[in-house]
Amino acid sequence: MKNQFILFFLLMTAGVVNAQNVTGVDSREERIRALVGKMTLQEKVSLLHANSKFYVGGIKRLGIPEWALSDGPHGVRAEIDRDDWGYAGWTNDSATCFPPGTALAATWNPRLAYERGLVLGEEARCRNKDVLLGPGINIIRSPLCGRNFEYLSEDPLLISKMAVPYIRALQSKDVAVSVKHWLANNQEEHRDSIDVYMSERALREIYLPGFKAAVMEGGAYTVMAAYNRYRGDWCSENDWLGRQILRKEFGFKGVLMTDWGAAHSTVKAALAGLDLEMGTDIKDYNEWYFANPLVRAVEEGKVPVPAVDEKVANVLRVMFQTKVLGEGQRVKGKMNTPEHQRAAYNSAAEAAVLLQNNGNLLPLHLDKIRRVAVIGDNATRRHCGGGLSSEIKALYEITPLEALRQKWGDRVKISYAQGYEKRLDWKLIDEAVNAAKQADVAIVFGGLNHDFDTESSDKRDMALPYGQQVLIQEVAKANPNTVVVIVAGSPVELAGIVDRAPSILWAWYGGMEAGNAVADLLSGKVNPSGKLPFTLPVSLAQSPAHALGNYPGRGLKVNYEEDILVGYRWFDTKKIQPQFPFGYGLSYTRFAVSRFSTDKSSYGKDETIRARFDVKNTGEVYGGEVVQLYASDPVCSVLRPEKELKAFEKVFLQPGETKTVEVRVKVADLAFYDDSRKAWNAEAGEYILQLGNSSRTIFQKVKILVK
Ligand code: BGC
Repeated sequence: MKNQFILFFLLMTAGVVNAQNVTGVDSREERIRALVGKMTLQEKVSLLHANSKFYVGGIKRLGIPEWALSDGPHGVRAEIDRDDWGYAGWTNDSATCFPPGTALAATWNPRLAYERGLVLGEEARCRNKDVLLGPGINIIRSPLCGRNFEYLSEDPLLISKMAVPYIRALQSKDVAVSVKHWLANNQEEHRDSIDVYMSERALREIYLPGFKAAVMEGGAYTVMAAYNRYRGDWCSENDWLGRQILRKEFGFKGVLMTDWGAAHSTVKAALAGLDLEMGTDIKDYNEWYFANPLVRAVEEGKVPVPAVDEKVANVLRVMFQTKVLGEGQRVKGKMNTPEHQRAAYNSAAEAAVLLQNNGNLLPLHLDKIRRVAVIGDNATRRHCGGGLSSEIKALYEITPLEALRQKWGDRVKISYAQGYEKRLDWKLIDEAVNAAKQADVAIVFGGLNHDFDTESSDKRDMALPYGQQVLIQEVAKANPNTVVVIVAGSPVELAGIVDRAPSILWAWYGGMEAGNAVADLLSGKVNPSGKLPFTLPVSLAQSPAHALGNYPGRGLKVNYEEDILVGYRWFDTKKIQPQFPFGYGLSYTRFAVSRFSTDKSSYGKDETIRARFDVKNTGEVYGGEVVQLYASDPVCSVLRPEKELKAFEKVFLQPGETKTVEVRVKVADLAFYDDSRKAWNAEAGEYILQLGNSSRTIFQKVKILVK
């Protein structure tokens, strides 16, 4: 204890935890100091713990209002009762619901992330919220993680490129984000007891970069500490994560809050840099760790007063940044505008990934079709309201069947068969087969639902549930023109259907505009331009954590033995053929990528590589391609992944149109984290830059030299 005390003061004097150290905002810092100076200890502590499910007590006397927090990452959650998890029954809290995280990442379009941030910020303000809990940016490590659908990708660069504009846009609306879940909450199984171990290199190369970008580039005002432990200590009281990395290395000056009910101590957490305790326990809020026990700890000299002042200052700073306090007109916000709904539609339309399209069955030419059989529970199921904390009371949610009937109904005859229930049902399969037989085209809407893609539990396996594989096989036998639309937010096994169904479109959970987007994709009104943000394995056993047997861990400990070889880094390095690779997705048109070059052939370590290439739409329709630049370091003193994503650009082109694109990669970003030197190391020598449209489809390579 004494040592922690001394350490704290050393850090204070070194300026490391000095909250007043914000250049250029001195007057704000003075006002914060003055406010803190007026508070009693009890008042200070009242700002450091919740007083209900999603609110933190204000201080009336000093004009500090209650602080309002809300979930979540793809829409503003409906109002929850103050003291239980029931809904408050408001009539004005129906929101715009976007497609969740993996769908956002599948657009590979940072502009859409920005657009989403603006909408979420406006709707949060309209609901008088101060903090919106998201984005969730944990690495997709196992295909089974129940929250994969909320997260973005297996690749840290893709995560960073999407998270930063989302955060900047949202916070421009005077609402704070809460980037979650800090750190290594990569499984829901045992999430509130598992202790995660990984190498410093894996931490630096894979698990930290998204958070680093969120804080250092995105300027995230708050961060949410995860439920799990990291290297023995709970993430909410982990000095290494909270003080050393977040505060000292990233320069984070905002609020580090717990996940709901993730606090485990008063003194340890207080010294480790936690600011705010949020929770689910409705017993006396005054007895939470960061309530009366914190007052007592200060009085007993176990937590120094400056440590409490620092926390209060962090809260007040975010309040000033979002204009909860201070002058300046705060954004008023708006809900459910046509622009908001358009943004949700765009996000769903650009997310869909065309995995297979044999014989160009898609797009469907509605003038040549008379009957369509729509099959599958996901053709009529609404998903916005599921998944637990990210569930949204959507203003509306258009299902695929509704949209198809509405958009195509006057031209084609549409029949519907449910096809499957929450179990294998041969009667439903027979009905579906009959419907398919009588139609020109059968469209099966399958995949998962939020019984699988959900917070707080992981999937048991990667299978398509409810006997869907049999259903799809039978339907495809009955009608060779079978299109499968997968509605899911995390990997499922497709091995049993890829050689049966000619066309497969992965549509994700599409938010409130799901049906409209999928109808337009199937008819060709919109050309698919999404790319997989994760590797789709043939089977679970291919995937690194499972191949090595280190999921979900043993004895409540999990060691990430695959190390840096997460996702495609594993598949490509080990030469394992996945079902569909990272970054993959087809289009209704064709693209040619050519003239790949770099501005120089050799670079110093502080330089930036400027890489150029041409993309041409050589097909017949307008479309978008995501050109991906990967780098390899063939000769290195340590094992490096076969390739790593370093840049990408989504380009939209008219038929026949060509664009020249330039992307930039810092030489420093070619480095690996050198565990032996505890530093990044871009070793001198040759690197290969590879340009492609998936991690497995490389068009051109250029060698460069790093001096
Ligand atoms: C989840 C968080 C969420 C919080 C509040 C927790 O169970 O892990 O992501 O923001 O609840 O609902």
